[in-house]
Amino acid sequence: MYSKHGQCFGALDDDPSAATEEGEAEEVFHQLAPAEDGVVQVGVELGPVILTDKAGEPGVSKTAATIIPQAKPESRTTTEIEQCAKHIGISKIWCRFIKGKLATFLFFTPFFSNPSTTMHHFQYSGHNLHCESVDLAAVAKLYGTPTYVYSAATMADNYTRLARGLAGLDVQLCFAMKANSNIAVLRHFANLGAGFDLVSGGEIRRVLAAGSTVNTSVFAGVGKTEGEIRLALENGIFAFHVESEPELARINHVAGTLGVKAPIAIRINPDVDAHTHAKITTGKSGNKFGIPLKHAAAAYETASKYPHIAIKGVQMHIGSQLTSVGPFVEAVEKVSSFVAELKVKYGITYFSIGGGMGIVYKDALASGDKAWWDAQPADQRPLTPESYGAALVPLLQPLGLKILLEHGRFMVGNAGVLLSRVEHLKRGAGKNFLIVDAAMNDLVRPAMYDSFHEIVPLQRDSSRRALLADIVGPICESGDCFAKDRQIQEVGEGELLAFMSAGAYGYSMANRYNTRGMAAEVFVKGSSFELINARETFEQMIAGEKIPAFLK
Ligand SMILES: Cc1ncc(COP(=O)(O)O)c(C=O)c1O
Repeated sequence: MYSKHGQCFGALDDDPSAATEEGEAEEVFHQLAPAEDGVVQVGVELGPVILTDKAGEPGVSKTAATIIPQAKPESRTTTEIEQCAKHIGISKIWCRFIKGKLATFLFFTPFFSNPSTTMHHFQYSGHNLHCESVDLAAVAKLYGTPTYVYSAATMADNYTRLARGLAGLDVQLCFAMKANSNIAVLRHFANLGAGFDLVSGGEIRRVLAAGSTVNTSVFAGVGKTEGEIRLALENGIFAFHVESEPELARINHVAGTLGVKAPIAIRINPDVDAHTHAKITTGKSGNKFGIPLKHAAAAYETASKYPHIAIKGVQMHIGSQLTSVGPFVEAVEKVSSFVAELKVKYGITYFSIGGGMGIVYKDALASGDKAWWDAQPADQRPLTPESYGAALVPLLQPLGLKILLEHGRFMVGNAGVLLSRVEHLKRGAGKNFLIVDAAMNDLVRPAMYDSFHEIVPLQRDSSRRALLADIVGPICESGDCFAKDRQIQEVGEGELLAFMSAGAYGYSMANRYNTRGMAAEVFVKGSSFELINARETFEQMIAGEKIPAFLK
């Protein structure tokens, strides 16, 4: 069913093109990607957006303006609607024109779950821990351990929630791929409409290998080489995020050799305390990142004089794993007037506020359920994309700029687990050690940042006793310890565990210390799973090594 008043809704099978108003309407059909099975969202401009299941049961209702912030029908082109829809994972759109003006549109999103009740897709089904509909024990059996497993639905939900949380702004999401750079993950985000926050030539090449482009991606980092700058320019990078004046000169030089202008934004260091771990604080004056706010005007002045530099925007990023919105607000408030000046003076078109949204590590499993969030006292509830957006949108909207977001951890952190097998339970003097086959080389965060990962058995058995133990890896370092005095269901040799919230800065920070090959990676979608990175063999590990002639 379809109405010219824009208040009606159709089921997936409805074909709006059948509803042409005789003589006055011209129908335009856009299909961005094949729609998928499951719940669809159906909405029209001006009317509420209703989530329905296939049987037509109404679900959540929101205004269309919330779902598609940029949808001001008369003033928007179909390309803009299409791009905006892509950002929030919309797969199909029908646009309807009346006398050349966009009158109404319908859109359909693939079903990834209802993000209002499920924050991630890891849960026990019966006694067994599942990722979406896949029994994780089956993955471990097939591919061994240690193995990272990622949930496609959780990533898509995170992406959609963030886009919706910032509704009202013209947002470009650039996934900080340093958090998880497997090309399957990149392809998933590219399909959802994301660009990327890149920090090396290798990352540029990964995006290309994933079948995407860097046209909506930004290139950050304090030490970009000439080769990396050239690679970015040759592939049409959206912008360089410049961290120093010498870097500006280098970018200008490389762009000159190619006869092009390099798009740039300068990274401002706002000197705001992110109240996070010292090793992931980036926006204080003592950090190596960005140009201090008081020197930024001069840096822009310098940039404006270079013949091969085009000033496009401004950037900041204050740190990672922020669990309250206060520091983000403080930073935006601190730089807003300067950003507004840049718009007037240089016509900048965007402001990147970086990434940094934190995730839940302690109650990781329970936090998959919305009820857990509702039960948290308001003053202790961790940051959500909704509260992040509610605090920042009113501050950012008056700037009238495109807003870039560079979240990494939030997009993938709760979407991954690391599976591991128990090697031994070693009962020591006054201390138990649960020795597992994952180690600090596979997941370095506890050793590097003293960070907490919840560790749960793949098979839950409430009849077992609790065990108090240090959970450690086999590496020859005392630092190879995942948890001290952790209470866990008693498990023995050969049994399987999952390290929760391991989707960000897990595999991407892994290494081969102790000549341990890189772990395997598996991607889950619904009831399907596929190996997306095979476990590294010994032969692959030493393939580049050789014994010099003088030792033979
Ligand atoms: C410039 C920049 N943007 C984005 C990020 C991503 O941070 P997070 O994963 O905490 O969102 C980082 C992390 O180091 C960064 O340096």
